[in-house]
Amino acid sequence: MIDPREKIIKERFRNIKRIVSVAAGKGGVGKTLIATSLALALSRRKYKVGLFDLDFYGPSCHVVLGVKDIFPKEEKGIIPPTVYNISLMSIIFFAKEEPLPLRGKEVSDAIIELMAITRWGSLDFLIIDLPPGIGEETLEVIRFLRDSEFLLITTPSKLSLEVVQRLIKLLKSTNVNILGLIENMAMNNYMGVSKKLANKNGIQFLGSIRFDKEIESAIGNPEKLVSTQFFTELEKIVERIFLTNQSHQY
Ligand SMILES: Nc1ncnc2c1ncn2[C@@H]1O[C@H](COP(=O)(O)OP(=O)(O)O)[C@@H](O)[C@H]1O
Ligand SMILES: [Mg+2]
Repeated sequence: MIDPREKIIKERFRNIKRIVSVAAGKGGVGKTLIATSLALALSRRKYKVGLFDLDFYGPSCHVVLGVKDIFPKEEKGIIPPTVYNISLMSIIFFAKEEPLPLRGKEVSDAIIELMAITRWGSLDFLIIDLPPGIGEETLEVIRFLRDSEFLLITTPSKLSLEVVQRLIKLLKSTNVNILGLIENMAMNNYMGVSKKLANKNGIQFLGSIRFDKEIESAIGNPEKLVSTQFFTELEKIVERIFLTNQSHQY
């Protein structure tokens, strides 16, 4: 069945050069922190960047950015507010402090609605922060944003590796573009497990980010966040994936 909103969504995303969806099998592996930091890293390099928080049950990009009391503007759709030069769109603007007890179909409708009304304008990068796993949000991105490239996150824990493998399988079966796998919260005694998993599944291993115990104090404070070890290590990966043309196998 043809969904009329499909055409509108296509139009809304037409002037976005690259869409990068940050995904993982599990929650708590650092998707939100990485997606938001990735947006910051690219916008600091003068790219035009949007950040789309699609984690409906736990929207939190705004927490990393420390923003409060900002709202989108209504004008032939909705124009996302700009924070730290990033156009931010999140269900939080509509939900405020209230919980959002949405069921599957409602989540799906809300996502499609948000995609259909948001006026991103022209962007170099749109970063999408996905909830864990293979729920409505991920499936709708696969369905409507066929050009999205997936950036997968895992920790070196077996619990995370096992479930990210499942996600890799799903993504591969839908033929979407997988940028590769980032290992977050790396620990010395588990060196190599994530790289092995990437190799086994035929996807790029993009690098490791170590556990950074200073990170908590930088949440909500982007000026501080950009000076952490976490951010420096993420930037190295960002440079390798997005800012050079050469192959990033190493
Ligand atoms: N490299 C890291 N070092 C230390 N803490 C981290 C690191 N990456 C993420 N965290 C912390 O782990 C928690 C979960 O991160 P979050 O980005 O919310 O994960 P997700 O979006 O995958 O659920 C947060 O408290 C975050 O600050
Ligand atoms: Mg998250």
